[in-house]
Amino acid sequence: MKITVVGAGAVGASCAEYIAIKNFASEVVLLDIKEDYAEGKAMDLMQTASLNGFDTKITGSTNDYSKTAGSDIAVITSGIPRKPGMTREELIGINAGIVKEVSSNIIKHSPDVTIIVVSNPMDTMTYLVHKTTDLPKNRIIGMGGALDSARFKYRLAEALEAPISDVDGMVIGGHSDKGMVPLTRLATRNSVLVSEFISEDRLSQVSEDTKVGGATLTKMLGTSAWYAPGAAVSGLVQAIACDQKKIFPCSTLLDGEYGLNDLCIGVPVVLGKGGIEKIVEIKLDEAEMNKLKESAEGVKKTNGLLEL
Ligand code: LAC
Repeated sequence: MKITVVGAGAVGASCAEYIAIKNFASEVVLLDIKEDYAEGKAMDLMQTASLNGFDTKITGSTNDYSKTAGSDIAVITSGIPRKPGMTREELIGINAGIVKEVSSNIIKHSPDVTIIVVSNPMDTMTYLVHKTTDLPKNRIIGMGGALDSARFKYRLAEALEAPISDVDGMVIGGHSDKGMVPLTRLATRNSVLVSEFISEDRLSQVSEDTKVGGATLTKMLGTSAWYAPGAAVSGLVQAIACDQKKIFPCSTLLDGEYGLNDLCIGVPVVLGKGGIEKIVEIKLDEAEMNKLKESAEGVKKTNGLLEL
């Protein structure tokens, strides 16, 4: 299993590190446009191999896509991250050109690849890859919901004063401060609905804290977060590489599912060796459906900024 990670910045490097530590891939290629940067990160990470006990070979490349040839999965983290006060949507001008070029270079050397898009605005960048490449739709995946759901579980555990392993919950919708739809009604603590334990008001607070999860960290760190984004990507990569058939909310091209068409947005999917093997249509109530529709309108508005 060969995996390419394009962009050796904080998110790309964390992603490579978590993939290596989970020890399921034979090779990870880190690629960056900055001279020697990916090579340096790869060398540093390889020097953790004997300490952390992994056998994954990590190599770096300065923009030489021939080194990525034959990749099974490629993760695109390239582009600029947001600064405090910026929305993910504001990055579209610069990142669209980069994501288009990167995806075409990857496919040239790995025609059977599955692409995971992380660059923001992520739902629109995922849609751009659909519009500008010939990859089948099951092999283009946007990473947002897995991260947003991890942040949701963190906030749920905080509110419930419970260990995170005791809680479960999912965030669907667009990967944006306004567009996320945390499914509070369905969240559970060890199979009991969380509404049994905390008030509606507290749950609303959990929901709001989840939606601004990335923005909160961007303000604290001066740039966007990387550990949880990297870990979330590594979870998707592992599900595909190991054919786990796990359910994650991912951004995928919808064709009538949830009453939505011609956009990529986060909904639950089954991930396995075929990439997105199934879109899971769960029964949403009217309020949730309205929020998802509103979120879709926001994503479509951003898609409208693409020069296709
Ligand atoms: C975040 C970025 C990766 O939410 O979108 O941290």
